[in-house]
Amino acid sequence: MSKINYKSVEEIELIRESCLLLSKTLGEIAKVIAPGVTTIELNKLAETYIRDNGGVPAFLNYHGFPYSLCISPNDQVVHGFPNNRALVEGDIVSVDCGVILNKYYGDSAFTFAIGEVSDTAKKLMRVTRECLDLGVEKAVVGMRIGDIGYAVQEHAEKNGFGVVKELVGHGVGLHLHEKPEVPNYGKRGSGIKLEEGMVIAIEPMINAGRAGVKFWEDGWTVSTVDKKPSAHYEHTVAVTKGKVDILSTFSYVDNVLKEKNNN
Ligand code: CO
Repeated sequence: MSKINYKSVEEIELIRESCLLLSKTLGEIAKVIAPGVTTIELNKLAETYIRDNGGVPAFLNYHGFPYSLCISPNDQVVHGFPNNRALVEGDIVSVDCGVILNKYYGDSAFTFAIGEVSDTAKKLMRVTRECLDLGVEKAVVGMRIGDIGYAVQEHAEKNGFGVVKELVGHGVGLHLHEKPEVPNYGKRGSGIKLEEGMVIAIEPMINAGRAGVKFWEDGWTVSTVDKKPSAHYEHTVAVTKGKVDILSTFSYVDNVLKEKNNN
């Protein structure tokens, strides 16, 4: 994809539908994710839920990716393979999901704590989610791509964390990855102008330690060089005038987690 595909209002509503199914899927994951559950079980649950609701898991077979979810525990940053390892108390697990509905893609990710996690992991998750919120706030007409990256990077580094640079956010629409690239670093006022009709996935990948990552020989998994944990939160956002229009939502996940904490 060499140029930006600007979306009509109708197209944005279709992407919102995909994102809604995706957000509900992450809510279903939130219900069951716990010590003793394997990540392949989570993958199966997501695939079934998406298909039962008329969607297609967007990551499955994408450039040969063999699963419906990317599940990346602890020092894995993104693109991890679901497997038969049971989650244990203290893990943090990034779950990235994509849905195709009515031909349009949605893309969103959330990092879950398994039981009680370390203070560092807690802070990493909180700060990464704040990075996403700060980046998303900039996704309005009048800003530039660099304003998003600057907001993410500044907050992460102020908190002593490393910003992954090798992987970036992206446009979303009839394709999972479209122009423009949306880096999690940058200079204020730099890069292309954000304009109405752009739909982008903003996805900070933040490491507790050094920023460096390594790419595994499986062709997919990315992990931290220093083996410290990494977190990843992602929203699909439509650029509008004035108020930010976030197409995906964590409200399903948050409601489930709140209920779990009360029990
Ligand atoms: Co993405």
